[in-house]
Amino acid sequence: MASEEQKVVLITGCSSGIGLRIAVMLAKDEKKRYHVIATMRDLKRKDKLLEAAGDAYGKTLTLKALDVCEDESVRQCISSIKDRRVDVLINNAGIGLLGPLEAISMEEMRKVFETNFFGAVRMIKEVMVDMKKRRRGHIIVMSSVMGLQGVVFNDVYTASKFAMEGFCESLAVQLLKFNITVSMIEPGPVHTEFEVKMMDEVAKMEYPGVDPDTVRYFKDVYLPSSVDIFEAMGQTPEEIARCVKKVLESGRPRFRNLTNSLYTPIVAMKYADETGGLSVHTFYNLLFNFGPLMHITMSILKCLTCSCFRRRTISPN
Ligand SMILES: NC(=O)c1ccc[n+]([C@@H]2O[C@H](COP(=O)([O-])OP(=O)(O)OC[C@H]3O[C@@H](n4cnc5c(N)ncnc54)[C@H](OP(=O)(O)O)[C@@H]3O)[C@@H](O)[C@H]2O)c1
Repeated sequence: MASEEQKVVLITGCSSGIGLRIAVMLAKDEKKRYHVIATMRDLKRKDKLLEAAGDAYGKTLTLKALDVCEDESVRQCISSIKDRRVDVLINNAGIGLLGPLEAISMEEMRKVFETNFFGAVRMIKEVMVDMKKRRRGHIIVMSSVMGLQGVVFNDVYTASKFAMEGFCESLAVQLLKFNITVSMIEPGPVHTEFEVKMMDEVAKMEYPGVDPDTVRYFKDVYLPSSVDIFEAMGQTPEEIARCVKKVLESGRPRFRNLTNSLYTPIVAMKYADETGGLSVHTFYNLLFNFGPLMHITMSILKCLTCSCFRRRTISPN
């Protein structure tokens, strides 16, 4: 059980990837400042987390079932916590969706919004009443660079993260009046199961009703570029966990937190031209006109961006 001095941190989606790493890093904090409630929708997937948590399990880390898409699951989990006390909520659970829009069903799109947007909203609604009463709290949302800049063939995933950014930007103002801080974490590519699951889905994908040109642009132009970008710019889940810890421990946490400074120019470009033309045409040229050049650039970047050269907006170190 958490002591009065410890912060109770509830994290969603801790069976793998970023959520797992944040949970373990905070639970192993040397000064034992956190009591982590690591949650996952399927407790059968707990082994990796418990193995990584080691001795911390049962001391500074508790495990609970929670499916962000189910009202009852969220209610039960929060009500099972002593005094419903959550000092820090980390909305991490999320799923991806990739491919030509014509090949994606409305049901698949709804699932992405149900998890990435409504799932996080459901969590925030459940904890904010108590945070407001206590006049204290921190809500952290695992957004993405794709919550700030649209990316071709990621239309629906991007939309779900944009929705979250707009929702939180609005809510943050009201919550500040109650001494509750909201922070968005905006990683670029991160090497987790997320990438693997998306590539598995793409491998199974069929393209009925999609014209051959679009299929070719997706498979032969977009996918190889995407692999290059992941290889050249990808961060590790540990790096993202360190960024989150830094945000958590900052005296005045920022609202927006890009974790990879290589993306700063892309976001700056968007805000430099309010017509949106600069972003749309730059991405168009990068993908369709300078594909081979982009491959070479990414290969050079891959060599240059070994960890000692990397400087990040929220440095994980
Ligand atoms: N990897 C990247 O490149 C990247 C980049 C930017 C942002 N992000 C964001 O980072 C977050 C974590 O992703 P990750 O990279 O760590 O991927 P991951 O390894 O696939 O982890 C996603 C986690 O979300 C959980 N989840 C999915 N649906 C859920 C639900 N309905 N209820 C509760 N948990 C659910 C998964 O649980 P199961 O094991 O049960 O499926 C898993 O634990 C996501 O929000 C993602 O959008 C990722």
